[in-house]
Amino acid sequence: MIIGAGVEQVSAYEAAKKRGLVVVGTDMDPDAPGFVHADYTILVSTRDADATVIAALEFHRIHPVDGIMTIANDVPYTVARVAHALGLPSISLEAARCVTDKLLMKERFTSYNVACPWFATVDSVVELREYINADVNQDFVLKPVDGRGARGVLLINREVDLEWAFRESRRCGDSGRLILEKFIPGMQLSTESFLLDGQCFTAAIAERNYSRLEQFRPNIIEDGGTIPAPLDAKTKKAIDDVILRGAAAIGITAGIVKGDIVIDHTGQPLIIELAARLSGGWFATHQIPAATGVSLVDAVISYSLGETLTPSQLMPTHQRATAIRYWFPSEGKISQIDGEEELKQVPGLLRYGFFRKHGDSQPKIRMHPDRFGYVIVMGEHRDEALLRVAQAMECIKIKVDS
Ligand SMILES: Nc1ncnc2c1ncn2[C@@H]1O[C@H](COP(=O)(O)OP(=O)(O)OP(=O)(O)O)[C@@H](O)[C@H]1O
Ligand SMILES: [Mg+2]
Repeated sequence: MIIGAGVEQVSAYEAAKKRGLVVVGTDMDPDAPGFVHADYTILVSTRDADATVIAALEFHRIHPVDGIMTIANDVPYTVARVAHALGLPSISLEAARCVTDKLLMKERFTSYNVACPWFATVDSVVELREYINADVNQDFVLKPVDGRGARGVLLINREVDLEWAFRESRRCGDSGRLILEKFIPGMQLSTESFLLDGQCFTAAIAERNYSRLEQFRPNIIEDGGTIPAPLDAKTKKAIDDVILRGAAAIGITAGIVKGDIVIDHTGQPLIIELAARLSGGWFATHQIPAATGVSLVDAVISYSLGETLTPSQLMPTHQRATAIRYWFPSEGKISQIDGEEELKQVPGLLRYGFFRKHGDSQPKIRMHPDRFGYVIVMGEHRDEALLRVAQAMECIKIKVDS
């Protein structure tokens, strides 16, 4: 059973079918693209854990389900709830709660001495102002405890209208609860690891590109990433250690763990957040397999079925490079998109996609879904991937009527 049948989940359906599995997919959208590959479909929202459990139990009575999973979909609680109801391999419900609540997660990190940025809850603008005024030279990040896709993640200091920031961030979460963190300047990383027998196998680490941080401030908007991140062996080891300890702190000792990590000025990796699922942005499905030969999608399928995995399935078979970047047109109505044919000729092109078409409105960039589209390329090494992705970006010209 695969929770979610959106475009980023299609690879999971394809991989499962390739293994000869019978697949049931869930999604609230009857036209979800993953459904094309599914043997059975259940129409239910991926975020509605209760309704998914009821539907899954009903299905299970007729067609027993052997495994449940998702990829690129921030619904670990739904997956864990169904797994527990059906007696299938999964993280605990408590761990699933921790990974969907940035405050709970960070409290665990602190109790278990896992390095993460300083944080506090903020319940009012008055409280927020007190923190900001107490450390005038510090930049902070305000965010909803239960947000995703960088919605309402704001880089703030004394110069920002704090009443606005409080309201804006609050608007973006489900619960209205906010967390304030110290902003840690330094190299930002995306990691994707599989925990097996007490060891952390990190298939790939991408350096996240924040070259547009000032442009979109106070929103924190990422402009893609590059594999491999320029890290020495000692730092990579420290990253594996902190992931292993961070996961243990939230009760996860096996399976997939995705990390948002920052390297501070002393060279120490701090965890911004861990997720108990494969990431989106075509990281696990396209970038990691191209760069390293590791298929984490297959690893997750095996894990969800309770199959035994071996370290060799999680270790790179080659070392190449990939880069993903996004287009950021200005706000307005999209009147022309040129250069797609030229883009298709770029060497090493892995995949590209536009989230909007001619005639659509391009919103002001406030969160990741506001980006116009992406392109992913590969190269033999980092410099080649970077050169190719720059070339690919240049191909596309988007005309916007403001
Ligand atoms: N305290 C911090 N210091 C430095 N950078 C931060 C901090 N908090 C967040 N960021 C940056 O902002 C990004 C988004 O923050 P976060 O992951 O908490 O929000 P999110 O809504 O879960 O976003 P996403 O779904 O993209 O992971 C982080 O991946 C990181 O690059
Ligand atoms: Mg995150």
